[in-house]
Amino acid sequence: MVQSEIRWHTDCRQDYLDTVWNIITDEKPARIMEIGGTTSRSTGDKTLPDHVTSFTISDISAEELSHVSDEFDTLQINACGDVSHVDQRFDLIMSKFCGEHMPDGKQFHKNMHHLLADGGVAVHLVPTIFASPFLINWLFPEQLTRKAVQLLQPRRFDGQNTGKFPAYYSLCRGSTPYMRKALADVGFSSIEVHEYYGHHYYDKIFGLRQLDNGLARLCARHEWAVYSSYAIIITRK
Ligand SMILES: C[S@@+](CC[C@H](N)C(=O)[O-])C[C@H]1O[C@@H](n2cnc3c(N)ncnc32)[C@H](O)[C@@H]1O
Repeated sequence: MVQSEIRWHTDCRQDYLDTVWNIITDEKPARIMEIGGTTSRSTGDKTLPDHVTSFTISDISAEELSHVSDEFDTLQINACGDVSHVDQRFDLIMSKFCGEHMPDGKQFHKNMHHLLADGGVAVHLVPTIFASPFLINWLFPEQLTRKAVQLLQPRRFDGQNTGKFPAYYSLCRGSTPYMRKALADVGFSSIEVHEYYGHHYYDKIFGLRQLDNGLARLCARHEWAVYSSYAIIITRK
């Protein structure tokens, strides 16, 4: 993971991808599952090493899964619902910008624990709730925030990208102590959170951009994770 002086949001995607890839090459997981990786896989176009025996893409939506090519297994599940019927176990589970769509974060992580093999690891990249654009997204009606995102980030709706799904940010936090406490009874052997600060949402709004960047940098320097914007959450069974 890149360790700059402060963890700025511009590094979070690459750090997440590097974390996932390092686990794949160093820990040699055989069975991998990605949640919500139908349009953009966390391993990109890289050739998977021979020790990977299966790569499963899971999603709640059959429509989303219909885009997945035949080289991958698919699994239609509500990652926040009842997964007790799923017998498969995975050595690595990953998700990128999916955790915020789970209405009950604790149930989501309980399900990840259920689906992990002993010794398995889960890595999730999520936006965290108290950064102001995500707080606004959480507080305001979906129709209104969809219009705002269309205005500020039109590329997200250009047909190749995923647009906007309703977000709840349940247990989407940038603090390791907070997440350890919240998930204490789930049974993970370790929980680590790497938080990032700042975001692109106000790039086109002069004044607000400078104000919010200043606040984010102040919080980053003091590691006030409550105002983080993104987090990589790593849980091990
Ligand atoms: C924002 S998109 C994923 C983005 C993709 N990983 C990326 O980085 O571009 C969120 C995905 O999560 C899926 N999803 C939402 N809620 C879910 C749930 N409860 N269980 C499983 N998948 C869910 C959606 O269908 C969608 O495919």
